[in-house]
Amino acid sequence: MKLFDVYPLNDIEIVKAQGSIVWDENENEYLDLYGGHAVISIGHTHPHYVKRLTDQLNKVGFYSNSVKIPLQVQLAEKLGKISGKTDYQLFLCSSGAEANENALKLASFYNNRKKIISFKGAFHGRTSLAVAATDNPKIVAPVNETDNIIFLPHNDEAALEQAFNAHGNEISSVIIEGIQGVGGIKVATESFLQKIRILCDQYDAVFIADSVQCGYGRSGKFYSHDHADIDADIYTMAKGMGNGFPIGGISIAPKFTPWHGMLGTTFGGNHLACAAALAVLEVMEQDGLMQNADEVGNYLIGELRKFDQIKEVRGRGLMIGIELPEELSHVKKNLLFKHRIFTGEAKPNVIRLLPALNLTRAHADQFLEAFSLELLGKFEKSLS
Ligand SMILES: Cc1ncc(COP(=O)(O)O)c(C=O)c1O
Repeated sequence: MKLFDVYPLNDIEIVKAQGSIVWDENENEYLDLYGGHAVISIGHTHPHYVKRLTDQLNKVGFYSNSVKIPLQVQLAEKLGKISGKTDYQLFLCSSGAEANENALKLASFYNNRKKIISFKGAFHGRTSLAVAATDNPKIVAPVNETDNIIFLPHNDEAALEQAFNAHGNEISSVIIEGIQGVGGIKVATESFLQKIRILCDQYDAVFIADSVQCGYGRSGKFYSHDHADIDADIYTMAKGMGNGFPIGGISIAPKFTPWHGMLGTTFGGNHLACAAALAVLEVMEQDGLMQNADEVGNYLIGELRKFDQIKEVRGRGLMIGIELPEELSHVKKNLLFKHRIFTGEAKPNVIRLLPALNLTRAHADQFLEAFSLELLGKFEKSLS
């Protein structure tokens, strides 16, 4: 059997990783500012994380949601505290798409409505409703097509108001990333998020904060929507939650009342996943990682804004987008193959920085130096 070939691959195999450094099969060292797509939150193979997972695996790795799993309760308590949502409720699943799917479904159960407002540039995952609410027709299969999604321009308060005026009593939920990731690191304005809150309250619609990529401390606050000083009704999360162990979840406001069978999953909230998520929160708390994301992120953004050649620098904390002009479209590739620095990308020409939240200032400087050499066209030596 061969692999179903859906991923364009870099010809690199990662065999070892520690903190923000990864090594390939030829022992070449790379700086990882991509974090395996915003997944590595506390750094690769963090010793506390490895120990907690290993210890857990030696006790029990998995049992189903048909028995009590106290680790889930510990996780809910810790997550409630660190996110400042102690009165919210936690439902655990295994991925970001699944988290969004459950959030959209829960909203519909809550107000018995079908319409969903989503925004231009949004990415919410690849499963049925999540992909329908994603602004990319190419990945929406005919079976996923639905009239229930209303796409509106991003950060356009007038359009939002108009949509609510026209369909207010049919709208089940509004789903929005605090910072669009795949869309190219586009920050939702504070006033736009506040407007969503007001209109959702007015029409009894559910405010879903997709925090799968921008959440979990990456923006310098736990949820990036927190920068607008609002509470969403449901926060969805995944990526950084398990530092690589597949786990997702939704944090649900007290007004939602569960009933047995309302939501469910086989793998969600298993022992090993909870141990991974607890280890992540413990390290985040002990090492002040949200503050580090804020400080190192602000430093990077400030330094990057000094380059005249960049079209725009966007983002918050350690979720940074660098929009380059067409003539610098080679820079991302050169960063990887000449300077051995992993970064992410977004179409058409945005470099995405999504490193571990404990990225050091020295590593930030290493990137800035390589980046400036590339921008000035002064880096000639090829490492390969
Ligand atoms: C904002 C956002 N939501 C949802 C998802 C889907 O997450 P997953 O790939 O874990 O299903 C992603 C993945 O990139 C994302 O960036």
